[in-house]
Amino acid sequence: MAEPKENLQMEKIVSLCKRRGFVFQSSEIYGGINGFWDYGPLGAELKRNVKELWWHAMTRSRDDIAGLEATIIMSPEIWKASGHVDTFADLMRECPITNKRVRADQVEPQSGVAISFAGICRRSSNTKIYSRLIEEFSPNLVNDDLLKQLLEKEIPDAEAIDSLKEKLGPEFERAKQNPQVFALVISQEKRSKISLQIDRDILFKRFCVLLQPGKPIESARKLAISFYEALGFQDFIFLGEQQSKVENSLDFHPETGGELRAAVPFNLMFKSFAGPIESEENKVYLRPETAQAIFAQFKNVLETSRQKVPFGIGQIGKAFRNEVTPRNFTFRSREFEQMELEFFIKPDEVIEAIHGSVATISENPHSALRTPQSNWGWQAWHQYWVEERVRFYEGIGLSRETLGFHIQTKEELAHYARACTDILFKFPFSKKDENGQVKGDELEGIAARSDFDLSQHQRFSGKPMGVFDDELRAAWAKLPKEKQDALWKRYYDNRKNYLTKSAKPDETPEQISQQATEDANGLAKGQYIPHVIEPSAGVDRLILALIANAYSEVTKTDDKGKSETTVVMKFHPRVAPVKVGIFPLLKNKPELVAKARAVYELLRPHLKAVYDDGGSIGKRYARQDEAGTPFCVTIDFDTLGEKPELLDTVTIRYRDDGKQERLKISELLDFLLSKVR
Ligand code: GAP
Repeated sequence: MAEPKENLQMEKIVSLCKRRGFVFQSSEIYGGINGFWDYGPLGAELKRNVKELWWHAMTRSRDDIAGLEATIIMSPEIWKASGHVDTFADLMRECPITNKRVRADQVEPQSGVAISFAGICRRSSNTKIYSRLIEEFSPNLVNDDLLKQLLEKEIPDAEAIDSLKEKLGPEFERAKQNPQVFALVISQEKRSKISLQIDRDILFKRFCVLLQPGKPIESARKLAISFYEALGFQDFIFLGEQQSKVENSLDFHPETGGELRAAVPFNLMFKSFAGPIESEENKVYLRPETAQAIFAQFKNVLETSRQKVPFGIGQIGKAFRNEVTPRNFTFRSREFEQMELEFFIKPDEVIEAIHGSVATISENPHSALRTPQSNWGWQAWHQYWVEERVRFYEGIGLSRETLGFHIQTKEELAHYARACTDILFKFPFSKKDENGQVKGDELEGIAARSDFDLSQHQRFSGKPMGVFDDELRAAWAKLPKEKQDALWKRYYDNRKNYLTKSAKPDETPEQISQQATEDANGLAKGQYIPHVIEPSAGVDRLILALIANAYSEVTKTDDKGKSETTVVMKFHPRVAPVKVGIFPLLKNKPELVAKARAVYELLRPHLKAVYDDGGSIGKRYARQDEAGTPFCVTIDFDTLGEKPELLDTVTIRYRDDGKQERLKISELLDFLLSKVR
């Protein structure tokens, strides 16, 4: 069968990544470790550029966002408050053949013939029962009831009487004196012997496998034998072998065909211990997201950065998730990096109290969503951040056409979230939807998370997470009573809703109402818990998107008709790992080499440059094209003044169209910086 085109594309990308040092498999010399990746020299530069650009766009270039760099391991209480201990789980199913686990929602539909076995019976244990099983039912057996009936016939009363005699000793003769009671005792004894025999000799444990195409039924039986042998049984016959047709079933492992075990939740947090004692008290988690540290440090940042709501806290850092099925190269890894912003805003009731009304999105067409306004509610802020993030992606070379959006439905949203828009990228492995369109896979999620996170940390830590807002206090005092009552009621209802849904088992409805009342009364004093908009992006997914987006092949045919295909990585100059290559035309001409070295030294303090004097200029261009270097500079004899008017000029060659022009060395740095910043 021909290989799907998109897989070929991914294969080429993965191979280029290894060949050119973008991404390597972690621990490769030991066979690798699933879900972990290392970035090589070019990958490390690319990643650094991406993080630097995000950090610049989100913190340094704005007055309303501060940065944070928190630890990976934090108090486990944080993960209880955030809900990760209880609910950060994937439903997972296990293959009975390999014990490999797959995510229940990621099983591809399978069709074919399924061979199932109801269980086994030991051959050696009781030859009489074994031969009767063969005689009466084989090979298509048997259920528990049938077996009981059979054993009832096979175990004579005499056996039960002997066994009772042994058990009761002298009491046996006394028991015999009452025939009715004795009959009952005998039948009970018989039944217990049957149960014992079933437990010892019969195993009702289903094994089922989808017959692999072209394989005989014997292959399924072999797998079943290994399965039952692994459970400690040997020399047995199968019970209840059956064949059935299945179509588009989600119950079989796509690789082995084994019928998957029932789905069980699997918590994705990596666990460890802080300190030398491996006890429950010392259990800690590697953070599964960077966001929670931002909430936990909210008050410290607010106080030390002298920010006022609305403002944000941004953080870049490692996150760890013990993904059941890491896949698609670095797309779903177990160790990855996130770039997260928590942008804190005033609740809509507060905006309304201060400004009279909340600006709606319809009043703010997309173009107007560039400049934040003080009367924006959560919807406008949410849309603003979606737009801002798309502008960021465009600014590093991902055009709108390469992106997609997924607006989460009510059913998909977490109970506390008001909206979530995922920004998608059309990766080579992204699937087509029912209309034949490629929608893409998630690069970043932008969620409106209400006041859930800060409220949770307030409740779990006992430390206040609310803010005081002078403007609100002053405005509230001037509101007419009906307006105050209406806003109070809306705030109260929201708080009560949150408190009810997040209640601890010992919290009563009265306590919840009382807390909601206190929270709503806070408005009059200028107090509230900020809401949050969270743009959360994955660094590694973005790197993969940039690599996939940059990958292009160029085929050139020479005069003799010989054609050659080379790879050109068309990175935006801002993210390109190497910005400029410096080449002396010839490496055996000391004057050229010295001048080229001087140009290299001039540029390298300011941007990533490489010096290359190996092979022909064409080979050197090709090497830099594959690395994605947008500019190459050649120092030739004109640079040295062979043509006096060209003294101290160089040739600059552009990666994407191969065009060349001459530039003065004195203008080179400014020119390059204007392109890469
Ligand atoms: N604080 C919100 C949060 O963590 P998320 O959607 O679970 O939300 C945010 O993760 C982003 O982190 C995703 O959009 C994705 O880019 C990245 N990400 C999540 N899991 C990942 C994984 N296993 N491997 C690589 N990136 C991942």
